[in-house]
Amino acid sequence: MKQKPDYNAQARANPVFLTAKTAVCLMADAGIADADKIVDKLGLHGGDFGMADPEMMLGNELVVEAKYRTMCRLIENTGIQTNVDLPCGYTPKAVHMSEKGLRFVGLDLPIVAQEVEPVLLSLAAHPELIRIQGADATNLESLRNALNGIVGPLCISTEGMMMYFTESEASSVISNIRSLLEEYGGCWITPDSEFMVQFFLTFQSVLGQHALQKLEASRDKATEQSDVVTLTNSFIVNPADIHGTSDAAIALLQRYGLKAERINLAANMPELKAYHKLTQAQITAFKEAMTKCHYWKITLDADWKRQNKEQETQPFEMKYVVMDDQFKVSLRGRMDTITAPEMLTAWEAEKAGNKICGIEIDCSDLQYVSSAGLRVLLMMYKSLEDKSRFRMIHVNNAVKEILEVTGFDQFLL
Ligand SMILES: C[S@@+](CC[C@H](N)C(=O)[O-])C[C@H]1O[C@@H](n2cnc3c(N)ncnc32)[C@H](O)[C@@H]1O
Repeated sequence: MKQKPDYNAQARANPVFLTAKTAVCLMADAGIADADKIVDKLGLHGGDFGMADPEMMLGNELVVEAKYRTMCRLIENTGIQTNVDLPCGYTPKAVHMSEKGLRFVGLDLPIVAQEVEPVLLSLAAHPELIRIQGADATNLESLRNALNGIVGPLCISTEGMMMYFTESEASSVISNIRSLLEEYGGCWITPDSEFMVQFFLTFQSVLGQHALQKLEASRDKATEQSDVVTLTNSFIVNPADIHGTSDAAIALLQRYGLKAERINLAANMPELKAYHKLTQAQITAFKEAMTKCHYWKITLDADWKRQNKEQETQPFEMKYVVMDDQFKVSLRGRMDTITAPEMLTAWEAEKAGNKICGIEIDCSDLQYVSSAGLRVLLMMYKSLEDKSRFRMIHVNNAVKEILEVTGFDQFLL
């Protein structure tokens, strides 16, 4: 019997959603309109969300406020009437955009979409302009379904997501956004490619000699919350090699027929409320530092020709049975942030009701496995006493490559 993954299974397969809770708490602290009401309604009061240190908190708040206010301005300046925020997290952008008369489509993992939708609709003066939907950015089908009935052009905004992806996930997202821009028209705006540059320059200009130590603590907090090993991939610019890594990110976009215009942050950043926490010298240094950081406006390269026909994606399917003391499952399609919790729920339900000593996963029709899928496979592997009784069979080259690149082949194959 197929069981719906509950909140708990979704949370364990996708811990990255917790980073969005930290972000809205920082926004409330920075005085961003309606963020405090969202924090109230979600019951997020009481903790320091891992940032007891006031300097670390100030640095993060400056980054978050500058990003939110500048992104809102850049989205509005495009003149495009529909903002697709991918991922929307728990921010008040839906309320803000709908007040400006823009249609807002907020997409995020189902666990976030389900939780934030009633909160945002209850705060908005124009809820009819808002749609919040669960989707996985690496899964084109889920994005298309979520946008069903929406009319282009779209201004797609991506804040705080690309750094959590592996190379293959980042490439899937870029390819998916390319497909959406082909279908709907519009543009993609993101601060993510230079997020490390923005963090580095903010902390350096405001916190002086403590900057590096506070930056490292902030990075550790983000990796711990999201359960990712590094916060980088080929889309992310490294402050230690801005030219080399920017070129690599631009080349990656070119491979998918996209081109980037770099928009200067300082030239587009509104005045920040957090300035009242800074001295005049700190404000001057911060504004000067932001002249070296850019957000990227990404559009279709009209001359680009698709090389290969995309492989058709099969819908996810999982068939399982417990035989003797073995859990046997065959998988089809993509095991990603949306589908992996289904597998975890099924596995835990069977484990609770049976004595299971072995697992056999038939991967003949498994096309793709994302970090969430890998995380669930690892949980299953770890729960066996005799690890040699975990077997993945008929693993195709695409999945084998993902396991090898992430190092999971060491345990799982
Ligand atoms: C740091 S938060 C940023 C949220 C929001 N944009 C903000 O600025 O606060 C990262 C978000 O990415 C979402 N996310 C992670 N992987 C995703 C995926 N594959 N598809 C859609 N959303 C994803 C998480 O659920 C989380 O809400």
